[in-house]
Amino acid sequence: MNPLRALILAAAGNNGIRRLVGTAPVSRDVVRRFVAGESTSEAVTATSALVADGLTVTLDYLGEDTTDRELAEVTVQSYLELLDQLHSAGLSGSAEVSVKLSAVGQALDERLALDNASRICAAAEQCGTTVTLDMEDHTTTDSTLRVLGELRRSWPWVGAVLQAYLRRTLDDCRELAGAGSRVRLCKGAYKEPESVAYQAPHEVDLSYVRCANTLLQGDGYPMFATHDPRLVGIIDERARWHDRKPGTYEYQMLYGIRPEEQLRLAQAGETVRVYIPYGQEWYGYLMRRLAERPANTAFFLRALASK
Ligand code: FDA
Repeated sequence: MNPLRALILAAAGNNGIRRLVGTAPVSRDVVRRFVAGESTSEAVTATSALVADGLTVTLDYLGEDTTDRELAEVTVQSYLELLDQLHSAGLSGSAEVSVKLSAVGQALDERLALDNASRICAAAEQCGTTVTLDMEDHTTTDSTLRVLGELRRSWPWVGAVLQAYLRRTLDDCRELAGAGSRVRLCKGAYKEPESVAYQAPHEVDLSYVRCANTLLQGDGYPMFATHDPRLVGIIDERARWHDRKPGTYEYQMLYGIRPEEQLRLAQAGETVRVYIPYGQEWYGYLMRRLAERPANTAFFLRALASK
């Protein structure tokens, strides 16, 4: 792994740095580039603007690694409030939610996470929208896929993220490529050991293409989460090869990253979903975004130094 990326990912887990960044007012402005706001209403406002531009949205209430039942409950309530507000604003046809199981109690008890995620799925169903489970570090993959399997018994449309950097992922794609499935394929954002994950960027890209082919060949609904222009081009070509029409798969990108490309693809008739994070616990999310791209880090440090 690139040393700068490793350093930033280490800072993601450092509480001292978290406090420094979290209280500096300028950094809060910079955070706005990647995070829609701290409140539900700010998240709904950001959704509304993107939907007006022809994009679709998935929203992530930021919070992770909860080992506290009450915090897990706060996360569930936040999703219920969000779904309610999206529905009232007439946006639930264009906006779904993304959930990290660790934020709803996975580290405490898988059953608790399942129950909490079930409550979010039931509310999403009432609003006519869907839920996708985010994927976290590799120690949680089996548990997350078990919970997915349980949720899909009642809500077959529940989606999951698979990470191309994991060596196991091609097999997981084969498992999940069937009718009715929704798989969001991304490269993967955590620091993982070589034993479980490809380390070289070109190996990750090759794995992404193998996985994309498997998903496009299958009968499910693949969701290609990447900003990588090369991969977007390859998926475009592969989708035609597999006779997939726009609307039978989609592209996904993060809020604030390559917004012009998001619009370009949507204007070309593709379905494009923007992943909007919001909430007070934005630090870990922001650090993963900075680790992905040195230019983002330079932008962030310059803004911090200028105050
Ligand atoms: P990569 O970071 O390699 O970037 C490739 C190229 O994209 C760059 O060379 C550049 O050309 C372009 N690019 C990237 N960032 C840019 C920027 N800021 N401005 C301009 N160009 C830029 N991860 C995870 O582990 N679990 C999860 O659940 C999710 N969920 C998720 C949902 C969605 C919708 C997305 C888009 C991503 C995730 N991720 C994730 C994150 C994912 O694993 C990955 O870390 C990031 O998407 C970055 O990888 P890229 O594919 O963009 O390629």
